[in-house]
Amino acid sequence: MGTIVSPSLLAADFMNLGKEVEMVNRSEAEWVHLDIMDGVFVPNISYGLPVVEQIKKASRKVLDVHLMIVQPERYVEAFRKAGADILTVHAEASTHLHRTLQQIKACGMKAGVALNPHTPVGTLEDIIGEADVVLVMSVNPGFGGQSFIAHAVEKVRKLKRLIEKTGSGALIEVDGGVNTETGRLLVEAGADALVAGSFVFRSEHPEETVRELKELKA
Ligand code: DX5
Ligand code: ZN
Repeated sequence: MGTIVSPSLLAADFMNLGKEVEMVNRSEAEWVHLDIMDGVFVPNISYGLPVVEQIKKASRKVLDVHLMIVQPERYVEAFRKAGADILTVHAEASTHLHRTLQQIKACGMKAGVALNPHTPVGTLEDIIGEADVVLVMSVNPGFGGQSFIAHAVEKVRKLKRLIEKTGSGALIEVDGGVNTETGRLLVEAGADALVAGSFVFRSEHPEETVRELKELKA
């Protein structure tokens, strides 16, 4: 089955977004990653609901929406309506994380929780049973094209142990600075899904690059 690849459209050519979504459709990626930034939780603003809605119409992949916004609980329903299949919120941004994850699932989506580089895996100990996906950030969120924080590999290992110990079915996804080299280390450590922005969209043959990531095996 291989690794799940989630190309991040943040690195796409926004003037040709339709073509970029088509490329992802043709590729072996199973998910497509959408980064929503509010300029408050992270020091950058990306795109919002109307863009997600349009991407949904054109995409044949699972819409993997990464919310980098404060009080994400206020937007759960709106992102469901826009077409999100997986909705991931930051542990640091949601005061009542348990409730938020339940709210996401009640709306019919898979619930994801993201961890900033400084947030320990142990934060999830009492909530891992509620999460369908855990998104380990291997850069500080806000921008594409940053370099990989190597400590993320150890974090994936710890998370894998927590998941096994608790019998949670959560998938481990990693986001930031992913290429075939860092991706291999992450998959060996237990990652199930890899987000890749610049590595895919800046590559000469993006579909082949997706395949290379997909073929990484533990
Ligand atoms: C960063 C975003 C990432 C970003 C990754 O805040 O969450 O999804 O697009 O970009 P690369 O793969 O270029 O590091
Ligand atoms: Zn992301």
